[in-house]
Amino acid sequence: MKDSIRVIDSIQEMREYRSLIYETKNIGFVPTMGYLHEGHLSLVEQSNKESDITIVSIYVNPTQFGENEDLQTYPRDIDRDLDLLCKYNVDAVFYPNNKEMYPEGYLTWVEVEKLSSLYCGRSRPTHFKGVSTIVSKLINIVRPLYLYMGEKDFQQIAVLKKMIEDLNYDTYIRPCPIVREIDGLALSSRNAYLNEKERRNHNDNN
Ligand code: PAF
Repeated sequence: MKDSIRVIDSIQEMREYRSLIYETKNIGFVPTMGYLHEGHLSLVEQSNKESDITIVSIYVNPTQFGENEDLQTYPRDIDRDLDLLCKYNVDAVFYPNNKEMYPEGYLTWVEVEKLSSLYCGRSRPTHFKGVSTIVSKLINIVRPLYLYMGEKDFQQIAVLKKMIEDLNYDTYIRPCPIVREIDGLALSSRNAYLNEKERRNHNDNN
């Protein structure tokens, strides 16, 4: 286990770090919004197995939250996250702020038509546009070979696979199995919001 972890908060430093990694080395990338759980850590483990370098990003992306959604209250605990990632021997963590990712005057969006408006997209009409935009930016900054994502987010994977194909990124999605709690509930950072009754209902509905 490492005793410290490299945390990079600027795009320029991330690019510099990336450019020092030989082209022959595989980079595995795990994009997250933090408040890490076993599901995220299973993605990190898979990346560690298959890649020479594992990079994790922690960024609560405001553009994928709708107006009345939980952006302000989304759970965050960066110190705990960094401790965990250190234990899992992650090579670097990209931890940018909003100014870095969406500077004043930001105007460019990536939208995967049709797929983004099905299922969850019906009730969250701007969600996948925010996800594909941020993931496209992160791929450009980190330039990973593999992108690790949980199968829990089935539609997210479908949207991003299409984006990667259509925009000719040299990156491949590695979908990883859902990790569940003992009672069967799929792990999610938002489970922190659920009380006992809501947990049971959630489980019964899944
Ligand atoms: O699945 C998530 O946590 C987010 O949608 C992602 C892929 C990190 C983009 O913000």
